[in-house]
Amino acid sequence: MGQAKAQQTAQVEATESNIRPKNGTPTTGVTETGQIRATASDEIDMDEVQDYLVTDDSVCRGFMPTEFEPAADPYRLYRFLTDLDDVLAAEPDDAERIQQVSPMVRSLLISSDWLQFEYTDPSPERGWAVRMLYREPSFPLTVQMVSWEPGKTSTVHNHATWGIVALIRGREKNTFWRRSPTPEHPDRIEKVGEQILVPGDVIGFTPGAIHCVEALDDEPTISFNLYGITDYAQRFQFDPNAHTAKQF
Ligand SMILES: [Fe+2]
Repeated sequence: MGQAKAQQTAQVEATESNIRPKNGTPTTGVTETGQIRATASDEIDMDEVQDYLVTDDSVCRGFMPTEFEPAADPYRLYRFLTDLDDVLAAEPDDAERIQQVSPMVRSLLISSDWLQFEYTDPSPERGWAVRMLYREPSFPLTVQMVSWEPGKTSTVHNHATWGIVALIRGREKNTFWRRSPTPEHPDRIEKVGEQILVPGDVIGFTPGAIHCVEALDDEPTISFNLYGITDYAQRFQFDPNAHTAKQF
């Protein structure tokens, strides 16, 4: 395909100047014009949204992607999947993949109004729900819409594959952890930072990045989630208090 492959992104260290504070009101939805529709009367320009990369040390860095121009408008899901397949075939490095795919994800969300409504309400029992958008045997991708009930917090976990999450509705706090083993507690982890995501933000994780998410405010969060092939032997849920980790 060449287009996504040609994307060169410049990763930069996270600083106060390149990571925007997220103190705004709850927002929802992406308009056809590339703006984010807010639940309140205000709108957030797409220029204000942020791309993040969380690496295996669980440090969250903002980065500045170059422009991505889809081959066709609208940028339909099947084209996105085809472009994505090409990136994965050409680029073995997960951090590089994430930086190339993040602008493609944003183009997909801007192009696809239907995605905003393609979710399942969070389960009252579990506090979350997953709607599978695409999964095919022997194709190394899982595409989901994920919803979280306000106030719910996920387990602390890594994904053991690369992953990209684009927030579509609500606000979500990501807390990042890294391994900090001691002889007594080899699975000990420590908190290293946090970042609040708003609609339009896209965050990518390399396989060892450890995080938990919390749905903020008073409406469910809706996100578009994309994952590669999970190495289940390396995927863990961590208990930061008991200093334990278990596969899941
Ligand atoms: Fe996660």
